[in-house]
Amino acid sequence: MRRPSHDGKQRVPQIDLKRIRKEFGGKRGTRRWTAINGVDLSVEVGEIVGILGPSGCGKSTLLNIVAGLESDYDGEFTIQGKAFGQQIASGFRVAYVFQEARLLPWKTVRGNIEFALKAAQFPANEWRDRVDRVLELVELTRFAGFYPQQLSGGMQQRASIARAFAIEPDILLMDEPFSALDEMTAQHLRQSLLKIWSAFRTTILFVSHNAMEASFLADRVMVMSQGPGATIREEVSMAGVTRPRSYDDNSLIEKSKAVVNALRRHSGRSEVALV
Ligand SMILES: Nc1ncnc2c1ncn2[C@@H]1O[C@H](COP(=O)(O)OP(=O)(O)OP(=O)(O)O)[C@@H](O)[C@H]1O
Ligand SMILES: [Mg+2]
Repeated sequence: MRRPSHDGKQRVPQIDLKRIRKEFGGKRGTRRWTAINGVDLSVEVGEIVGILGPSGCGKSTLLNIVAGLESDYDGEFTIQGKAFGQQIASGFRVAYVFQEARLLPWKTVRGNIEFALKAAQFPANEWRDRVDRVLELVELTRFAGFYPQQLSGGMQQRASIARAFAIEPDILLMDEPFSALDEMTAQHLRQSLLKIWSAFRTTILFVSHNAMEASFLADRVMVMSQGPGATIREEVSMAGVTRPRSYDDNSLIEKSKAVVNALRRHSGRSEVALV
């Protein structure tokens, strides 16, 4: 669905997925498995959209398609109205943050971020300033010269978020980025993420298993059904929950309950807890 912008013109979504269907297996006698079927999702520039759903329903598969890591699927996927490859050719950048930091162990924090800047073809004379800026945003300035194994899990994840933002991505994908962290660290990182987002206004598509986290971060939360053939069953809009966000905001707590109820309705399970 295209939404008219304020001036009445049709806006082209940043990410547009239509009727996406992805099957695994079927080769050399392996069992065919329709992971997702009929996924429609449009994300506007600068929007933050969360995806929740039962384990194995196809959330990571969807992110992989948007990242261009998965090309064998049916349906239409465009970025700003163009097929994925065309955007990449014109310097369009997509960053991906995973559950674990995935830093290169033989490079320092600065070295890891520089590595990403080099791969994204930023000129070497800009690297120092760019690294300094993102490390300040995630409060890791003092640790620029540390190796990943000298950092805690939360610090490593902050470094990986800094690396993602350093390349000024047009789209940031995150797959359960805070689920391996304790709740206090995760809360702090979610705040940091929103602070960085307000500076860059990057379009963010993320996966979470935590209704409160998804509600805290997102403009919209999409709830998927159980597979096979999982799809997006419900959208919970966070309209009315003001930014900057606070965990104590009653409207946020109510929205989070609505997300849990949607998960209960569509996962076929009744024991989903509010976390
Ligand atoms: N490379 C693959 N080969 C075969 N099947 C796969 C492959 N990748 C994913 N699948 C299957 O596709 C389905 C969706 O997987 P996916 O990893 O996208 O789920 P998910 O929603 O991210 O789950 P989780 O919440 O546990 O991370 C699962 O049934 C999984 O077994
Ligand atoms: Mg997954």
